[in-house]
Amino acid sequence: MEGARRPTVAVIGAGVSGLTAAKQLQSFSLGVTVFERASAVGGIWSFDERKPLEPPYPSLLPSLSDYDDGPSQLGLGGDPPDLVELQHAPPGPAYESLTNNIPTSLLELQGYPWPDGTGDYVSHRVVWGYLQRYAVANGLEPLIKFNTRVEKLEKEGQRWSLQTSTLERDELDRSKIITETSEFDAVVVATGHYHAPRIPDFPGLPEWKRRWPSRVFHSKAFRTADCFENLLLIGAGVSATDIAKEASTHVKKIYQVCRGSASDIPAQFLPENAERVGPISSFSAPSEVELDGILHEDAAIPATVTLNDGRILDDIHTVILCTGYHITYPFLKQFHSDSTPVQDADERVLVTDGTQIHNLHEDIFYIPDPTLAFVGTAFSASSFSLFEFQSIAISAVFSGNVKLPPREVMRARYKERLAKKGAGKMFHSLRDDEVDYVARLVLWLNSDLALSSDRVVEGHSEAWLRRYHERKEWLASVFRRGS
Ligand SMILES: Cc1cc2nc3c(=O)[nH]c(=O)nc-3n(C[C@H](O)[C@H](O)[C@H](O)COP(=O)(O)OP(=O)(O)OC[C@H]3O[C@@H](n4cnc5c(N)ncnc54)[C@H](O)[C@@H]3O)c2cc1C
Ligand SMILES: NC(=O)c1ccc[n+]([C@@H]2O[C@H](COP(=O)([O-])OP(=O)(O)OC[C@H]3O[C@@H](n4cnc5c(N)ncnc54)[C@H](OP(=O)(O)O)[C@@H]3O)[C@@H](O)[C@H]2O)c1
Repeated sequence: MEGARRPTVAVIGAGVSGLTAAKQLQSFSLGVTVFERASAVGGIWSFDERKPLEPPYPSLLPSLSDYDDGPSQLGLGGDPPDLVELQHAPPGPAYESLTNNIPTSLLELQGYPWPDGTGDYVSHRVVWGYLQRYAVANGLEPLIKFNTRVEKLEKEGQRWSLQTSTLERDELDRSKIITETSEFDAVVVATGHYHAPRIPDFPGLPEWKRRWPSRVFHSKAFRTADCFENLLLIGAGVSATDIAKEASTHVKKIYQVCRGSASDIPAQFLPENAERVGPISSFSAPSEVELDGILHEDAAIPATVTLNDGRILDDIHTVILCTGYHITYPFLKQFHSDSTPVQDADERVLVTDGTQIHNLHEDIFYIPDPTLAFVGTAFSASSFSLFEFQSIAISAVFSGNVKLPPREVMRARYKERLAKKGAGKMFHSLRDDEVDYVARLVLWLNSDLALSSDRVVEGHSEAWLRRYHERKEWLASVFRRGS
């Protein structure tokens, strides 16, 4: 990407990943355009009272699980404007009581302190305000095309061709979609991983959803906890644990289904009226008699859930699937392979079963063509600050100030990492590696930057490291007590 013309970069998404990428790319004098399907910055921290449309039951194919309609069908056939908006830019997963679960001090972006007096754990509104002001303070908003969804991304010759659809309302308040194609030298994918609900294929669940649609939903549609009786929460991650805590004062009994993974949140974090139960075997079909009646809003669902151990739950009022999300890039369908088992990914594919992104160097650069890069792929890390380091690395490489290792070296390192961490969900966990990961990036960047510019990338500060280690010790002690 070197030469007389200023290289242009498309950034897809204006959550914290896209914002930090835009800021850093600009600071390395690259031409930046950000595409954001929503009407505001902030990604998951932009709270939306509206609930997303529910996905199909089951929803098992990552490549189809966020959207598959494409621009041509949207807004046609007289769909109501609200429905078109919900499809075009689905509301995120933030709920009324959501707070950050990693202290704000660890999430701080470089040179951009939280306002004086900000606590360690604050409402999503405070976090959103921080990101919104970051966008304004860094002059990023003029770079962002809002209400604009990226539909297709393809390499044509040396450049990326990017097809978008922008949702607008005409003078009669009807929605209309404008499609456009533009070209870029490089692309940063910053679309996040918490959009496309994973809905497992439990026998009988689709029938429950069809019959009692408001009583069965994914955690992405959870907003407040005051309307439930007994709850069945499926999953043992942060969503299930947090919803259990939120709901505990409103409901009599909570069942939390856990299938025993290494990443389960310990049961000690559950409220007293919650019971952890084993995996689900099936959801029963309602009898004809039960189907005749109208379900009173306080009444339990007139059907049962059978667990693998034979236990039958017959008092469920609402089921919330806290079963996580598929990683998906609907605009890069050519790099999806839904039918390939995660451990059999080839050297080209990006997504197989939706649990891992394959073939990235340092979780960032697509090894076969590093003009395609990703921010925000890691989890169990201090997302904001970590994503900012990834953004700096991308900007330094795209601007030609820093060189990537030769492709065979990137490939060898990727294979080494895969052998160490294993394929699947935990590949992107930085629970034990965050500090080393950032130190490695900073060392690499600074060794090249010293030759090409007078820039120095500051790594984690002493204060940040102190706070990080304090929290790590606290977490270790909590998990020890919980195991
Ligand atoms: C409920 C919940 C709570 C969380 N809490 C914490 C926490 O406390 N601490 C923490 O560190 N992390 C937390 N996380 C992780 C969180 O994902 C990160 O903090 C961070 O917000 C991710 O930012 P992002 O920019 O990568 O993705 P997002 O915030 O998801 O932003 C992606 C953006 O891309 C846009 N987009 C998607 N597809 C397209 C497309 N095709 N075209 C155009 N635009 C598109 C979206 O509209 C969105 O604005 C939480 C996640 C969830 C789901
Ligand atoms: N700030 C906050 O307070 C807050 C609140 C909510 C969420 N979050 C964040 O949001 C992100 C997503 O969290 P999440 O909890 O929604 O998703 P998650 O971490 O992916 O957890 C999904 C859970 O569902 C389980 N599951 C999946 N399929 C299942 C099946 N067929 N049967 C039974 N269990 C199944 C998983 O088990 P396996 O592990 O076995 O797959 C896992 O326990 C995380 O980064 C989290 O930190 C933060």
